[in-house]
Amino acid sequence: MCGIVGYVGRKRAYPILIKGLKRLEYRGYDSAGVAMIGDDGGLNVYKSKGKVADLETHCEEKDTTGTTGIAHTRWATHGEPNSANAHPHYSASGRLALIHNGIIENYVTLKENLMKRDIAFRSDTDSEVLVQLIEYIMLSNQLDLFQAMQVALHQVIGAYAIAVLDREHPDTIVCARQSSPLVVGLGADGEYFLASDASPIAEYTDRVVYLNDGDIAVLQLGKRLNVVSLSGERQHPKVRQIDVTLGQLEKGGYPFFMLKEIFEQPQCIRDCMRGRINVEGDRITLSAVIDYREALVAARRIIIVACGTSWHAALIGKQLIESLCRIPVEVEYASEFRYRNPVIQPDDVVIAISQSGETADTLAAVDLARGAGALVMGVCNAIGASIPRLTQTGVYIHVGPEIGVASTKAFTGQVAVLAMLALCIAKERQTISDELYKSMVRELTLIPEKMERTLQASEHIEKMASIFTYARNCLYLGRGYNYPVALEGALKLKEISYIHAEGYPAAEMKHGPIALIDSEMPVFVIATRDKLYEKVVSNVQEVRARGGRVTALITEGDEQIRHLADHVIELPDTIDCFQPLIASIPLQLLAYHIAVCKGKDVDRPRNLAKSVTVE
Ligand code: AGP
Ligand code: GLU
Repeated sequence: MCGIVGYVGRKRAYPILIKGLKRLEYRGYDSAGVAMIGDDGGLNVYKSKGKVADLETHCEEKDTTGTTGIAHTRWATHGEPNSANAHPHYSASGRLALIHNGIIENYVTLKENLMKRDIAFRSDTDSEVLVQLIEYIMLSNQLDLFQAMQVALHQVIGAYAIAVLDREHPDTIVCARQSSPLVVGLGADGEYFLASDASPIAEYTDRVVYLNDGDIAVLQLGKRLNVVSLSGERQHPKVRQIDVTLGQLEKGGYPFFMLKEIFEQPQCIRDCMRGRINVEGDRITLSAVIDYREALVAARRIIIVACGTSWHAALIGKQLIESLCRIPVEVEYASEFRYRNPVIQPDDVVIAISQSGETADTLAAVDLARGAGALVMGVCNAIGASIPRLTQTGVYIHVGPEIGVASTKAFTGQVAVLAMLALCIAKERQTISDELYKSMVRELTLIPEKMERTLQASEHIEKMASIFTYARNCLYLGRGYNYPVALEGALKLKEISYIHAEGYPAAEMKHGPIALIDSEMPVFVIATRDKLYEKVVSNVQEVRARGGRVTALITEGDEQIRHLADHVIELPDTIDCFQPLIASIPLQLLAYHIAVCKGKDVDRPRNLAKSVTVE
């Protein structure tokens, strides 16, 4: 959510900062701003409501010189989205400028204390209190910026990634993090880059340092990176190599990242399985299962915590693990779990699923589970993000950076990882026969090719999409493994086309939502030839009997439902538990094409953020 970019070097900072902000646009934001120490030594802050392009227009006639700067995209939590509340915020004397991602929970108390000392505030944000507090401590104790931050941050409760400029030290940025991500890029010639994730840095350097909670770092041109903990201990940051290539961040000829990511899925699933499924295609090796075999085999219960799309993947994981490993699985919204005083026992295994690895609620759930002594495993995409670093073990989904706010390839990647995990654990627990295990692994290796065939329906779906743009409400129905697919299909449509949609287990329809059905309401049914097929056929009949318009996802060659539905989309056959990997694709395409027909900004839907780093 929201973004931070910083640069200290010998090049002009402004173009680097603007480009960096554009790379972070996918995270979702409502205003943007930039601060630079100009060639004349002045500290210039420019900000505007709206997109980064609006900020550029605003800066056209301004002094944008200087080789040190910070920039921000804000996703408002405190105070409306306007230019006064946009970051950077000046300190009272105008000597400092600060950007902040996160939420300061005790800002009211801090602000009242500062106002009693005649410090005037210019915004309604919680963030401004930080810059005023830091300057107040700096000036009243004659400290430098770094020392003042060390003192000030002890008084602050909440989540933050901050970066601060001091006009008196034009070659330096001081930054700090607590529960909000921050990455430092080490460039050539003693220059530094700073960002809330690696995407703005990737084109300049592949050497990065991920700051840890409680770190304060000084980025000074030509000097070694200085990282100190809040308690004053010197840290020895590990320099890592990042594997995000610039090509991965570009749209590759597609009009939107979302469409590119939908079409990447067959390759993503191959990448996800590479090195894990042997060449013969009959054995899976996951290092997490080797390293924690004992705990996994002995697990009395598995709890999966996640949010949004990742939570839908968790529902599929539950069915996979319960049926293959015979371990009870509970799926929890991380945001509920963290505040509910749940019973967590040392022989529980907690799995945290998160594309970004930075979702605040999921991170808090991880903390809680670790505190209770459970083994915590991450299923994440973003390499080096907070969840992979805070969990004892994990399985990366390896689908490459997901830029579109609406998650697509991360979802199928998560399901593929959960399928491999369930098969591995089942093998270790001997709850699966050798024969079934091998045939399932083989079937998994065929999924990418089946996904490719499914994607061929894109044109057909595109033509169909225009029919649904009028809809105000849609219903998605599925059963068994396809119930979470219905939930995910409905979420996709809501997120990017702003049409209200509900996902339901098909049989539950008659306990309520059936009242909504009329000829105005499109009903999408996942009706593949699985074990619940006949039951779903009856549910389709029930919709038809009330005049409902049915679009059915059917198994190739199925004639029975074809006659009952207004539209059909054919899918290659696979075993029930892998069906979500195939069936979610047409629903992603449907949401995409409907949103495009309605002229929506598919990659940056309103009010949403890619990475929800505040609770
Ligand atoms: C998906 O399309 C969403 N934008 C959202 O629900 C997302 O899945 C959720 O915020 C969780 O994110 P995470 O996987 O990065 O933790
Ligand atoms: N809480 C801060 C604000 O509302 C920062 C929000 C963000 O992370 O962008 O300004």
